[in-house]
This record gives sequence, C-alpha cells and structure tokens, in this order.
Amino acid sequence: MKAKVRAVSDIDMEKFRLRRFVDRLIDLDEVEVHPEPVPLTGLSTIVERTPKAVLFKQAGPEQVEIAAKTAGSRKRLAAAFATSEDRLGEEYFKRLANPQPLVQVPSGEAPVHEVAITGSDVDLTKLPFHPQHAFDGSCYMSAAIDYTIDPASGRRNVGSRRLSLRNRYEAGTNVTAPSDLKRIYQACVARGERLPITFTVGVHPLDFFAATTRLPGDELSLIAAFRGEAAAVVKSLTNDILVPADAEMTLEGYLDERGYVEPEGPYGEYMGYYGAIHMDPVFHCTAITMRRDALHHTLLHGSAFVLDQTDSANITAVRTEAEAMRILRATVREPVAVHLRSVAGGSNTLRVAIRQRMLGEARMAIAALFGGIIRLKHVYVFDEDIDVCDDRQVDWALGTRFQADQDLVVLQGMMGMTMDPSLNGRRTGAKAGFDCTKPFGRDGEIPLTRSGAKVFKGPARFQTVEQALGSGPMFYADIVEAIGSDDGREVACALDALRQDGRLCRDRDGRYHLQPSPPGVTGIVGQLYRDPNEGT
Ligand SMILES: Cc1cc2nc3c(=O)[nH]c(=O)nc-3n(C[C@H](O)[C@H](O)[C@H](O)COP(=O)(O)O)c2cc1C
Repeated sequence: MKAKVRAVSDIDMEKFRLRRFVDRLIDLDEVEVHPEPVPLTGLSTIVERTPKAVLFKQAGPEQVEIAAKTAGSRKRLAAAFATSEDRLGEEYFKRLANPQPLVQVPSGEAPVHEVAITGSDVDLTKLPFHPQHAFDGSCYMSAAIDYTIDPASGRRNVGSRRLSLRNRYEAGTNVTAPSDLKRIYQACVARGERLPITFTVGVHPLDFFAATTRLPGDELSLIAAFRGEAAAVVKSLTNDILVPADAEMTLEGYLDERGYVEPEGPYGEYMGYYGAIHMDPVFHCTAITMRRDALHHTLLHGSAFVLDQTDSANITAVRTEAEAMRILRATVREPVAVHLRSVAGGSNTLRVAIRQRMLGEARMAIAALFGGIIRLKHVYVFDEDIDVCDDRQVDWALGTRFQADQDLVVLQGMMGMTMDPSLNGRRTGAKAGFDCTKPFGRDGEIPLTRSGAKVFKGPARFQTVEQALGSGPMFYADIVEAIGSDDGREVACALDALRQDGRLCRDRDGRYHLQPSPPGVTGIVGQLYRDPNEGT
C-alpha cells in the first residue's frame, strides 16, 4: 500500500503525539512528575520504584524532558485506546480489522522534522541514553520503534528494538530473537548489502501495538489501523523509509553489511533476568530529527518482581488476552474471562474462566491455547464462578479443585521462549495446563458448594416454621429468612419441637423435610454422603 502525498491540514499532528498523551495521563493522576534536575544515572531507580508513569522535567546535563512507563498499566493502555480496561481485547481486534489510510506529508509539514541534524553534525552522545539495569552492557534508549523496507519484496516492516550507545554515530541494537527484521537483515548481509532503517523514539503507546503485532503484509499501515484514523507519515531525510510524522524524534541510518559482528548486552530482559551478551549488528546514524520541544521517552523493561508494571508486559498482555479469547471462542462453548499474569514475565501464565457445558472442555481449552500461542507456558482453567483477576479466588480454586494426578496436562517438546532461563539452553520445553474446574455435572451437591455467610432478605413469606416447611424442603437459613426472623434461635427450637413430634427428616445435603419420623429422632430421606474410607 502506497501512502498518498497531501497537505497536512486535515490531520491533527498533535493528537497522537507523546506529549499530548502524557498530559492526558497527568489528568488521570497516572504520572509522578519530577521537576528537579535528575542525573541520567538516577532515572531507572525512580522509574522502577513507582507504579506510576514518570515525567522528568530536567534529566541529565542537557536538562531534557523524558517520559517513562507511559504504557506501564492497563489503565494507561485503556486511555491510549480511549476505552475501558475490560474492553481492551475487543478494541484491539476491532482496530486491527479496520484498516485506515496513511497520508504522506512533505518534510516541511512534519513536526518530527522541525529540527534536522545530518552528516558530521550527528551526535548520539547528546541524546539521553541512560544506564538501566545493574549488569547492562551500556547505556540504553529502550523506547525505539524500527521501520524498514524488505529490499527483496518491498514489504514494510515495523518492530521495536532497543539501542545501546557506542559513539557519536553508532549504536548497538538487538536483532537476535527470531523476527521479520532478523530475516530481512540476514538476507541483506548474505547479499553484501546494508539495510536502511529509521527509528522513532517518543510515540503514542498505540504505535507499540503496531510494532509488536506481526503480519505477513504491510506493517506500516498498522500505525493508522491502531490509531483508528488516518496517520501522517513522512519520508526520512537520508533514506526512503516512511515514519509517523508526529513522533517526537527519529534516528535515521542503516545496519551495516557486516552482519553480527559486535557484542551487545547483557540487558535486563522482559522475564526479569539478564539476556546474555551476543553478537549483533551495528546501527550507523545518518540523521537525527526531532520536534523543537521534543519529549524524550524511556521504558521500564527488565525489573524482576515489578514486571507487571513494564511497558512491554502490559502491551503483550492485551494482545495475548485478545488472541486467547479469540481461540477460546472457537474451541469451547462459553469462555467467560481471560487474564494474563504479567508478573511472570511476558506472557507466561494465563488464567481462563469458562462455563463448562461438556465434559472435557477445560482440556480442549488448554490444548487449543498452547497450539495457538507459542509464548504461553502455563494455562489455568477455572469455572465461571472464579474471578480470574482475584488471586485469593484463584488460589482457593487451585487448592480445592485441582488434583495433580488427574488435572495436570503436561505437553513436552513444545516450542518455548528462548529467553526463559528454565529451558537451560534447550530450544523446546514443557507446557503445563491446570484444570481447576469442579467435578463435572455435580452442581448443587453441598460438599462441592462454596460456603459463605447468608445474606438475609425480607419480607416474611410464612408465619411459622411448620408452614414454611409445608411448602417444601428447606435449608436452615432459608427457613429463618422465610419466616422473617432476625434471630434464628427460635427456628432451631421449632425444628426440635417437630422432631419430638415425629415430623422432621433431613436429606443428604442437609435440607429439612416435613415428613414422618420416629418421635424424638430426625428421619433421613434417601442416603447421606459416605466417607469412602469408612467401612460399610
Ligand atoms: C518495548 C519493547 C522492546 C523490545 N525490544 C526488542 C529487542 O531489543 N529485540 C527484539 O528482538 N525484540 C524486541 N521486542 C519484541 C519485538 O519488537 C517484537 O517481537 C516484534 O513483533 C518484532 O517485529 P518484526 O518481527 O516485525 O521484526 C521488543 C518489544 C517491546 C514492546
């Protein structure tokens, strides 16, 4: 798809700029603002220690403004999609299914080209690359989105890759994990060609959804699709790549033809461990462009124990939940809810609630999810009465509805995420599904019924216990409610009077029945539950 060139007048270049989004987050009380000067070495601890997004007003010696963690919570992502947190998954697919046009604007009308630094004036060392994790290999710019064109096919690719500072004109980047960029770049290296690339830094969270959604077709158009309206793009000054014209900054250049020649990393990764040092390509910067009032951007990435506050975990969680719901709708009759536990890193652990209509549906769900989403490692399936976002309910169901010898599904030799240190270098590993649903088809049995306080509601429907039981068998508290008592003790005594009179029975679940019994003894209707260990 080609972008049309037209005047900018009908596209609002401020609407999706990062600065505007940060203002919105400030209105939502989602931002911790630091007006004081903060050295570059001080940024990451501040970002790691608050659950909020952060706005530094005077960062580093250049005293630049930097926003951090703008996509680090569901609330912030809901703000980005202009929807509610529970509708994020639906909104993700709705936008993906509704392509929007790209509109190419001339450089003179692109806010991101307001300042252009080219040739020998380029100086990456003046940008706020900053130390992030204790054992990282350099200082990093972690909020970069990369744009390339596959020279073999003309297909436009968008991804997100970090940059590590090397010198004025060069940065390291990480193209190690399997990706479209890796495939495109390796083919260039095999042909002895460099690969032109432009990074944007400082963009709306929606652009990260475009970067992390992998499509066989043109990925640049995803920028407009996720925004839900036409997006303005501009051609880079020193290569042919189109990028969003409303970004805060771009870094143009190329990955050189030498291939994987320089060590990059270690770097604190999305699973809360360090990704090892490995050989990677070198990015050569040929131009830096930015808005006059550019707002710089950084992310929280590899902070163990607060991974659920990282930008990538939240972005991945929304995508994964949306994909999981789509798979479940095609597999089981009534999926109810999905919840990705991003504290476990990336998309390791998914909780699912279903209304099980047929025996075996929980296992169908487990098999389908592992077949459809490679990055899942543990799937927990619950009944519809469990709120999968509530840890207490989930632990309760795991402790009371799960038997490891019957309800654990282990699949071996499955594709895993290479970053998972528990794989210990293997390419494949195990997936585990936990069927935490109740025994099927036994609803209403009292030993399988969730216990809790009775909420009594009026008004009285009967005047006496005998009249109440005359309408049918009842549980004790239901009798108390039925006669409108706010006490309950007199009901126990009235039941005893019926017992003495030889007119009281009980069934296996504990309901009282108005039926003949030996005077002074409670009769038993049917059979009581038996302890299987008890002799007959
Ligand atoms: C904040 C963030 C940073 C990321 N950094 C990297 C990275 O440095 N290297 C990498 O291979 N993938 C990284 N990813 C994941 C890729 O961007 C993602 O797999 C993407 O779909 C790859 O795009 P592609 O296959 O179209 O090239 C990152 C994702 C996010 C959200």
